[in-house]
Amino acid sequence: MTPAIDVQGVWRIYETAAGYTTALRGVSLTVERGEFLAIMGPSGSGKSTLMNVLGCLDRPTIGTYRLEGIDISELSEDDLAHVRSSRLGVVVQSFNLLPRATVLRNVMLPLVYSDLPARERELRAWRALRSVDLPEEHYLHRSNELSGGQMQRVAIARALVSDPSIILADEPTGNLDTATGEMVMRTFRRLQRRGRTIVLITHDAQVAAWADRTIHIRDGRLFSDDEERRYLEGLAARKDAPQTAEKSGATGGSNDATSFSATDPASSARRARLLGVPCL
Ligand SMILES: Nc1ncnc2c1ncn2[C@@H]1O[C@H](COP(=O)(O)OP(=O)(O)OP(=O)(O)O)[C@@H](O)[C@H]1O
Ligand SMILES: [Mg+2]
Repeated sequence: MTPAIDVQGVWRIYETAAGYTTALRGVSLTVERGEFLAIMGPSGSGKSTLMNVLGCLDRPTIGTYRLEGIDISELSEDDLAHVRSSRLGVVVQSFNLLPRATVLRNVMLPLVYSDLPARERELRAWRALRSVDLPEEHYLHRSNELSGGQMQRVAIARALVSDPSIILADEPTGNLDTATGEMVMRTFRRLQRRGRTIVLITHDAQVAAWADRTIHIRDGRLFSDDEERRYLEGLAARKDAPQTAEKSGATGGSNDATSFSATDPASSARRARLLGVPCL
């Protein structure tokens, strides 16, 4: 069977008035159907950029993305919107709720492309909201009348309402207390048991522990758990090393923010970024 997600050699370079930012640097990632994957990384490492690409909210600058075998680069905007609404449930970091619409209407929104009758759409929205434990008294409130944690639950319910095969969630528990966060993770686990693929982004190792596999992102590159552990051990060893060794450059690695190498693409990209010039 084709994987749920197959990303190969993806770069994402943002062009802004201030210059270029290379947020993803040759990312390759395969997620099998039914897998529960956590992606961890520090702030600014490219997590949301990757999530936007995986959620078809953004396209790679370079590289390919196959979603359940479909090459998304070949889709028109309309076809892409259809793929997004029928196969993907995405919880974005900023929630993206319509502030003046009620909670119920926000959650019903992804069903607008379906041919379900209004009553059925409303029923599904109620069920999705109940699955994230939002009290019913809030369903007719406008979303801008909710707390951050309540908005987060609405955003999760909206991602679940169309029963998508792939659920992508960017920091889904970031605004939740421990008990509600755990309930959301149980919901994801339950969905996985029903065959759904889950990819979640988190800063929190305890949240990542719910997943079957964790990968790490640093400076726009992906690393396995083992690679990350070796990297952290290397960092700790460098911290303990005598200062003279550091000055001589004996411990300088490719992730040192100020060291450059002409042959290392990471290094030349970093140098280019610091100098403010575009570089691949
Ligand atoms: N729309 C954009 N235009 C220009 N640069 C951007 C844009 N979005 C992100 N970036 C840059 O890309 C890099 C990665 O950002 P991204 O939002 O993916 O990080 P993140 O890992 O999600 O961080 P956080 O944990 O803070 O949410 C950062 O240097 C950021 O400034
Ligand atoms: Mg982010």
